[in-house]
Amino acid sequence: MLDEQAKKTILRMIPHGIYVCGVKDGEDVNGFTASWVMQASFVPPLVVNCVKQDSKSHAMIEASGVFSLSVLAAGQKDLAQTFFKPQRRVGNKFEDVEFYLGQETGCPIISDALGYVECKVVGAVQKGDHTVYVGEVIGAGVHREGEPLLLESTGWQYGG
Ligand SMILES: Cc1cc2nc3c(=O)[nH]c(=O)nc-3n(C[C@H](O)[C@H](O)[C@H](O)COP(=O)(O)O)c2cc1C
Repeated sequence: MLDEQAKKTILRMIPHGIYVCGVKDGEDVNGFTASWVMQASFVPPLVVNCVKQDSKSHAMIEASGVFSLSVLAAGQKDLAQTFFKPQRRVGNKFEDVEFYLGQETGCPIISDALGYVECKVVGAVQKGDHTVYVGEVIGAGVHREGEPLLLESTGWQYGG
């Protein structure tokens, strides 16, 4: 039998970064705070991004087949907070945040992030409550130097 407490304790020991995943559907843009992100291949360059199935962003990725990941800087906890509330509750999350649309995908990218990648969905596994999207990195850019924001530094939890 699965030891629920041990599962939670151990899974929460897996280190994570914090990103804003930018999504679009036609002219509509949205974004959400993401932490279940990692690299998955050198050639072609792939990342995995696990997206909650009942989120607005999930429906938008399903429709467009693309997403971006903006890497937040160590001081940008407030920015992460802006993006972890659902759009249906807070409305346009980009209202007070400077962004631009990525050249390859048209997905929103946070101007003040350290940098970004743009991805095209090349695979998806829908098993649990998140879809595991495999994204091929088709665009990337560095905005500035800095240390990335880590989940562990925020005191927040997502997982376990
Ligand atoms: C620290 C933290 C990390 C999160 N990581 C993820 C993640 O990796 N994948 C995900 O789908 N949601 C993640 N979320 C939840 C989304 O940010 C949340 O569901 C968001 O409100 C969805 O917005 P939307 O409905 O506008 O798409 C995380 C939330 C927090 C607080």
